[in-house]
Amino acid sequence: MVRKSNLVCVFLLFLAINGINAEDPYRFFTWKVTYGDIYPMGVKQQGIMINGQFPGPQINCVTNDNLIISVYNYLNEPFLLSWNGLQHRRNSWQDGTYGTTCPIPPGKNFTYMLQAKDQIGSFFYFPSLALHKAAGGYGGIKIYSRPRIPVPFPFPAGDHTVLAGDWFKRGHQRLRHILDGGRSLPSPDGLLINGRGWNGYKFEVEGGKTYRFRISNVGLTTSINFRIQGHIMRLVEVEGSHTVQNAYNSLDLHLGQSASVLVTANQAVRDYYVVVSSRFTSRVLTTTAILHYKNSKIGVSGPPPGGPTTQIAWSLMQARTIRWNLTASGPRPNPQGSYHYGMIKPSRTIMLSNSAPWINGKQRYAVNGVSFVAGDTPLKLADYFKIGGIYNLGSIPDKPRTGNAYLATSVMHADFRSFAEIVFQNWEDTVQSWHIDGYSFFVVGMDGGQWTPASRTRYNLRDTVARSTVQVYPRAWTAIYIALDNVGMWNIRSENWARQYLGQQFYLRVYSPAHSWRDELPIPKNALLCGRARGRRTRPLRG
Ligand SMILES: *[C@@H]1O[C@H](CO)[C@@H](O)[C@H](O)[C@H]1NC(C)=O
Ligand SMILES: *[C@@H]1O[C@H](CO)[C@@H](O)[C@H](O)[C@H]1NC(C)=O
Repeated sequence: MVRKSNLVCVFLLFLAINGINAEDPYRFFTWKVTYGDIYPMGVKQQGIMINGQFPGPQINCVTNDNLIISVYNYLNEPFLLSWNGLQHRRNSWQDGTYGTTCPIPPGKNFTYMLQAKDQIGSFFYFPSLALHKAAGGYGGIKIYSRPRIPVPFPFPAGDHTVLAGDWFKRGHQRLRHILDGGRSLPSPDGLLINGRGWNGYKFEVEGGKTYRFRISNVGLTTSINFRIQGHIMRLVEVEGSHTVQNAYNSLDLHLGQSASVLVTANQAVRDYYVVVSSRFTSRVLTTTAILHYKNSKIGVSGPPPGGPTTQIAWSLMQARTIRWNLTASGPRPNPQGSYHYGMIKPSRTIMLSNSAPWINGKQRYAVNGVSFVAGDTPLKLADYFKIGGIYNLGSIPDKPRTGNAYLATSVMHADFRSFAEIVFQNWEDTVQSWHIDGYSFFVVGMDGGQWTPASRTRYNLRDTVARSTVQVYPRAWTAIYIALDNVGMWNIRSENWARQYLGQQFYLRVYSPAHSWRDELPIPKNALLCGRARGRRTRPLRG
């Protein structure tokens, strides 16, 4: 015990030096990442396991907890984890994307030091490099509210994580090979719920009690619909925003999105289907899990309930019903409900348009005609060590451009504390899903056709949700407001994994000339250094 408390003291010092707030509780995790055999669709596949588990271990924590996660990479290739929806206030060092963090080499380890600062809600982590996500390596993150800050619903009898999404029988290396060869991915082979196929996973409930289900779409290429046979779902949370508690029979979740619903086990005691099906695909893929009532002796029966039969219009209409509960308290001392985003005039409009160009005879994907390629050094390290020639700030325009698409290590500049409007314009005939690391943004509007300044008259400037991942329907636009109050190098990407891998992403460099540790934490002492940053020192150069 003595040894352990000494260790804790050393660690507290370590945390203080690295700018983590040691007054808040901390939780330690040791994760071993290995390959392992998995059979989610009945055939043997090489999975990426964390501590032997697929999906990986669940992270349960409370607002402001420090999470100290030591990751040991036993794969034979570089590995990184990223944290979908965690904001890493002042700390993009921990984001775990190509542009912020050096990969953990095979046989090496790295300790992430995260803080769930001012956040509540349902999120997930995933492997960010190559196509590792196609082999697993993902897991759920629950951030509970602090005891003094009540949530707008009674504490549920249970809290179930649902990690759902499409799945390929082909291994991640083969999928990557297809993309590297300049071809697009085939259709997925099926869907999984918590790593299992048809009726493979069981959620236990007790009659009369109410449960929370936290659903995330962890798939690679398709939107999904979630529903539970014979049960109504009340939506309570979307990526950290408490919502108006509308009732739904089924809910669409686009790639990378998370939501919580409350379900009361108020039906006859038996088993029911929990159903996930693909959306907007020519062939509808479906999988099921089981909602098992305690003492039930009657198994599931009949066909699983079908999903919505109408396509885009239904989904768009449902999206518009997702609104913020303005009277519910938020995770901050100044609850988000009192934050009048609609009263602030954006100082800049950024318009981002996705496309699928062919470049040098290969399929690529692009933002404003620029298809992202990785340089040899993380952009954040290039910035910190002032290593030139890795990226140019002007490498991606903030409006769609015409002309041939090109490859670049694209980084866009943004001023710290500016308030921006971003319009995602989609002229392709597939649903897009966009994610911004380090932020939660307000989804002010979405509609069909071309966005114009007149579209602003239909914005919801009162009670839309703040979230980190938003869909854009085919030949349609989605507009968001974002307060750029988090200094760092932040990935803006398609959550469609083929698209992000082949270039539909870039980095937003939110910059403050002050270089103050109040605005951004110093480089972590344990930062891995790779590429042209190899051999440099992580001693503070500034401050
Ligand atoms: C993790 O790696 C670092 C450097 O590569 C090493 O110094 C450290 O001992 C490792 N941690 C453990 C607990 O083995
Ligand atoms: C909003 O939250 C409050 C609790 O803060 C709750 O009483 C109310 O029912 C919620 N309203 C809606 C419409 O969901």
